Parts: sequence; structure tokens; C-alpha cells
Amino acid sequence: MFTVRVETPGGHYPIHIGAGRLAALVQSVPADATSIVLVTNTTIAALYADRVETVLQASGKPVLRIVLPDGEQYKTWDSLNQIFDALLEQALDRHTVLVALGGGVVGDVCGFAAACYMRGVRFIQVPTTLLAQVDSSVGGKTAINHPRGKNMIGAFYQPLAVEIDPDVLKTLPAREISAGLAETVKYGMIADDDFFTWCETHVAALRALDDDAVRHAVRRSCEIKARVVSQDERESGVRAILNFGHTFGHAIESGLGFGRWLHGEAVGCGMVMAAELSHRVLGLDRTIVERIRALVAAIGCPVQAPDLGVQQWLDLMRVDKKNQGHQIRYVLLPELGRAEVHAVADERVQPLLSGQ
Ligand code: NAD
Ligand code: GLY
Repeated sequence: MFTVRVETPGGHYPIHIGAGRLAALVQSVPADATSIVLVTNTTIAALYADRVETVLQASGKPVLRIVLPDGEQYKTWDSLNQIFDALLEQALDRHTVLVALGGGVVGDVCGFAAACYMRGVRFIQVPTTLLAQVDSSVGGKTAINHPRGKNMIGAFYQPLAVEIDPDVLKTLPAREISAGLAETVKYGMIADDDFFTWCETHVAALRALDDDAVRHAVRRSCEIKARVVSQDERESGVRAILNFGHTFGHAIESGLGFGRWLHGEAVGCGMVMAAELSHRVLGLDRTIVERIRALVAAIGCPVQAPDLGVQQWLDLMRVDKKNQGHQIRYVLLPELGRAEVHAVADERVQPLLSGQ
């Protein structure tokens, strides 16, 4: 097992990475927990909930299971309320510990429920998608979507621990692996050009879920994310670089309707667009733009932006948490492995949005 530590004002906690962590999950349950609530979705429940519930029952504490509907379109108030209803029906107290077993959707909704229930109860992240293992389970961003914008209602709320078992990725559909690889290669683009090059040479191994390649990719991604989040928990500065490709990506997700493109697919395409904008605004070398486009295509994500219409693109991107006033701010690359946030005038972005 390998441990990465996150140290934020909102909490210090370990990320445990290792095959078999699912079976060891009970070690992260605090002794003073009065009950454990396993929050998952219909798909993951069928695969892993019985096994995880049995592991958690070894703590001797009562375990309640809550099964949400599966999909980005259910990252809503209704799912959040489904959790609150179940907790209140059982009159669970503030020593309850929630366990988020699932991808980024379950993790974000369960984390937000933990932040709100009785003004905050503890929770553990058990990410089961590659995307959640390299990104969403770490750093304490929790949220639901609003029809007008992605992740617009939420809280910064850190988990007690993150338990990553790469073995669970074996049941993940290939399309979801590609989506997770988008957030993985992102770390190379924004913070580690050697890791980017490593990803270029290990695409086939990663897509085939080779054990060594996946372990290295998850570990390096968690190390970079933990470092950035530990420097800036609430995104008042450097944490914004983790949003590389997301300004365009979030617009794709809400513009097409949540769930049409996977989050990772939208981010993959968004990173190609942000690389192109980096070339136009900061002079990022054309060969780097082409390497980024080639890597995003190689991991199996789209590189061609959908036609949302220029005005809709801009309207959607104006609803972004990085913005100040009405200026849209983008994460751009001055060079491979380094990212900065820049406000860019709409006139400079419009040609890119109309496919020029
Ligand atoms: P997801 O949670 O929808 O999971 C993808 C699909 O895989 C779902 O159908 C799910 O049921 C299924 N699944 C999960 N684990 C499985 C397994 N082991 N075997 C088989 N199927 C499995 O999507 P995601 O890509 O994990 O997460 C995307 C979400 O994460 C978005 O809502 C995004 O906004 C959010 N996100 C949050 C952060 C953050 O910092 N909090 C960062 C990145 C993304
Ligand atoms: N995924 C972006 C962040 O955690 O800040």
C-alpha cells in the first residue's frame, strides 16, 4: 500500500492506494462512530455493495445502505434529499459516518450531504472510477449541479480518508476509463511534463488497465493533486490550475445536457481547446498543442468541440466559479507542465468557438 497525505486547514487525511483496500476499509472508520451509512448508486451496489457492507459490519456498528439513481443527471437536490430523508428517518446522530462508494457523482453528492447533515458529519471517500481515484475523491470539493451551471451548489468539505483500490476498475466500461484518463493526463499538462511524456508512452498500458501503469498513474495524480490542494484548499489561487480544460468542458456538459458527454470527455476536449487558446494568447508552442491533441485522442476522448453556437458558449462560460465580474477567466499553459489563470476578452475566444 502507498499513502499520500493531504494537509489542509479543513482537515489532514491519508489517501491509501493499494489492491485490496476495499477489504481493509473498516480501518478508516473511527472508533466513536455510532453508525455507518454506505452511499452508492444502483450500478455500483450490484457490483460491490454487499462486499463493502460485510466489511463495514466488522466494525460492530449498524450499517445503513442508501442507493441513488446512476448518472450525472441525478447530481441534484432530489438525490441529496434522498440521503437526508434516510438519515432522518433513522434519527441518525452527528457521530454517523458516511461512506461514499462510487464515482465522482456519488462522491460529490455524498460529500455535500455530509457537509450539511446536522451542520457536518464525517465521511470517507471510496472512489470506484479512475476519474474519482485520480481526482474527485481528493481535495474536498462537494457539489450538486444546477440546470444553469455545473457544480454550482456545494461546499468545501474534506473527507476523513480516501481509500483507493485499483482492483475495482476492472469492472469499469472502456469509455469510463478514457474519461478518467483525461483528468490523469491533465496533471502532466499543468504540473509535470515528465509525467505527460510518461503518459504518452503508456497509453496502451493505461487503457488496458495494466496494474503497474494504473498504480503509477493514480499515485502520481494523487501526489500532484494533494500538493496543490494542500497549498490552496479553497481555490483562492493555485488550485484553479486543476480546472485546466474545465471552462470549456463544463460548458459542453451543460450546453449538451448533463450526461450526454461524460465529464472526462468534456474535459478532454476542453483541454485541447484550452491548449489552442494558450497558443493564441500566450504563444504556447504549436508542437505542444499538437501533442496535447494527440494524447487526448489516444486516450479515447473527443478532440472536436460540439457546435453550441458562439453566444451560448460564452453565456455558459460566464457561469463559472473562476470568473470575477463578467470577465471569463481561463486556465492556460505558457509551457508544458506549467499553468496560469488569465482573463481573455470574448473577441479573442470567439474564433475558436466558431471552429476557426
Ligand atoms: P460517475 O460517478 O457518473 O461514474 C461513471 C459511471 O461508472 C457511472 O455509471 C457509475 O455507476 C459507473 N461505475 C462507477 N464505478 C464503477 C465500477 N467500479 N465498475 C463499473 N461501473 C462503475 O462519473 P465519474 O467520471 O466518476 O465522475 C464525474 C463527476 O465527478 C462529475 O460530476 C464531476 O463534476 C465530478 N468531479 C468532481 C471533482 C471534485 O474535485 N470533487 C473533480 C472531478 C470531477
Ligand atoms: N477538480 C478540480 C479541483 O479539485 O480543484
